[in-house]
Order: sequence, then structure tokens, then C-alpha cells
Amino acid sequence: KTPIWLDCDPGHDDAFAIILAAEHPRFELLGISTVHGNASLPNVTRNALSLLTAINRPEIPVYSGASKPFSRPAVHAPDIHGDSGIDGTSLLPIPVTVHSTTNAIVAMYNAIMSTPPQTCALVATGTLTNIALLFATFPEAASHVKEVSIMGGAFGDRADSKGNITPWAEFNIYCDPEAAQSIFSNPELDRKITIMPLDITHTVLANEKVLTRLMGKGGEYRRMLHELLTFFRDTYVRVFGITEGPPLHDPLAVAVVLLEQDVQWRFEEVRIEVTCSGPEVGRTVKTRELPEVVGDQLGGGSRDAYTRVKVPLGLNVEKFWDVLLGVVEGCDGR
Ligand code: BDR
Ligand code: CA
Repeated sequence: KTPIWLDCDPGHDDAFAIILAAEHPRFELLGISTVHGNASLPNVTRNALSLLTAINRPEIPVYSGASKPFSRPAVHAPDIHGDSGIDGTSLLPIPVTVHSTTNAIVAMYNAIMSTPPQTCALVATGTLTNIALLFATFPEAASHVKEVSIMGGAFGDRADSKGNITPWAEFNIYCDPEAAQSIFSNPELDRKITIMPLDITHTVLANEKVLTRLMGKGGEYRRMLHELLTFFRDTYVRVFGITEGPPLHDPLAVAVVLLEQDVQWRFEEVRIEVTCSGPEVGRTVKTRELPEVVGDQLGGGSRDAYTRVKVPLGLNVEKFWDVLLGVVEGCDGR
């Protein structure tokens, strides 16, 4: 099993990321940390606890992380996710557990370091404040993890894949661009990061067929998920004019950790710069050109001073839905 840690801000699509990370037989979900983003920190933390109660996995520990970015006020998304962060259903249960009082960054570090080197996957489906704090506080965590998968960014490769919070910026990166930049420029994370940008997530739409499959044989749990996805669908029609179904961004960042044959991912390798000021703040720019090795300036001699990031170029969409809906089915009757 792949040990996995999920940092998230639930969030309709984060909800499906939680289910996939908690329930796929090939993952061992070590814990969940929450971060400001779609809604306030108390809201997203309660949502995470409630979702774990819904799938009857209350033993998975939840830690409450950063309530705001490094150097800006927090931004939330009530127009997309409602005031609670996960509006649209009355079927979410009252959590049977509370979040741990341990500091989220310390908890993340301890969990990662308890795994054998190069085995643990860190998945981030919210703003990047917690992850940046982790690597700033405990630099050795970067060489210890196997991979870091991040839902975020928009390269404008497709007409509908420009920003979703501004014409240039995707929400998760926009909320804390300095945190994002610190991760994409961390040489210890060279070739370990995969970014899941809007360019890809907008090719994976939860259309009517997916909604029907999600409802499956019914029951309260499936009705709850169906209501969440219906709310999200209606949001995407109202706010973005996307009528074919909403892109379900976050579980893709979990699914990319699965072995290639499951979802048949294809990748390119780039460097990423995050715009941290001006009107295009939060923009992600990719380049294939690698800078000269500047090891001497670093005092490191030969160490490459850049961070190569994997960007998916495509996937088998049907296989992704099969994986996700198969995992949903596994929770039937809980
Ligand atoms: C991202 O922003 C959030 O609203 C979603 O949960 C997702 O992580 C998409 O831009
Ligand atoms: Ca999210």
C-alpha cells in the first residue's frame, strides 16, 4: 500500500478526494490536514470530519492547519462551494469525532517520517500554506517523501482552462502564491511534484452519465454525494457557463498517485514560476528550458538548482471514473 497524506479544504471536489484517498485499497491514508481555502478553517475542518463520519472512517485523524496565507488575507469561495464550503445537502452527518489538537505541520511531519524513505505520497487539494510550512519547518521531509501531488494551476493550454478566480489564476495557487512558489522552486523536490492544472481537470467532467452512476442503487450515502455533485454542477452552469458537467478537480490529484496503468496518465516535465504580484498574481507559467547549473553560487558544487515538475498531458477519462465510482461503491452500506 502507498502511504498517503491528504491536505485539503473540503470543498465538494475535496470530498471525493477524501473518499478516494481513504478507500482505495492501494492507499493507506495516514491522516488529513485542513487548510483555509474554499471556506474558513473551522468550516473545512468540520466538513472533513463529517465526510469521514459519512464513510464510517472516524479513526482517520484530522488536523487543523493554517487559517490564512503567509502574507495576505484569506480568500474563500462561497460563490462556488456555498458558505459552509460544502453546501447543497442536508445529509452530511454530524461528526462523531473532533480534530486532533496536535499542530498539523508537526503531525504531517511525524506521519511522513514514520514511513520508509521514498514511499509516502503527499497530496494537496487546497491552498499550499500547510505544505510550504512543512518543507520550510522540516526541510528533510522533502527528501523523505516519494511524491507531492498538487491540484492547482492553469496554463491556458485550452480555451476553457485559463484561470477560474481571475483570467490568469487558478484558485488554490491564487490564495497563497508565495507558498506555491516556495514549493515549485524547492530543489529537494526536483522530479517529485506533479501538478494537476485546470487544463487537465476541465477534460474530466462529471456529466449526467456520471451523476446517474453515482446514484447507483441509492441509499442515503449515495444521495448525499449525488446532492453534492448536483450543487457543484449547478454552480458551474451559473458561474462559468459550463453545462456538460463540473470538472471534479481534486480526486484527480489523488488518482495521479495510482500506478500508471489504472488511469493511463501521460506527462511532460517542466519548471513552474508563480506570479506573486501585479494583476496576474497567482498565475502559473511553465517553461521547458532548464537554467544553467548554478551549484557554485549555492556553495553546493554540482547540485541542480531547479525543480522539475510533472504535468499530465492526458489520461483515460473513463478509467478514472471507473476507479472513483468503484471506490464509492465500496462504501455502500456503511
Ligand atoms: C480548486 O479550487 C477549489 O475551489 C477546489 O476545491 C479545487 O481544489 C479548483 O480550482
Ligand atoms: Ca480543494
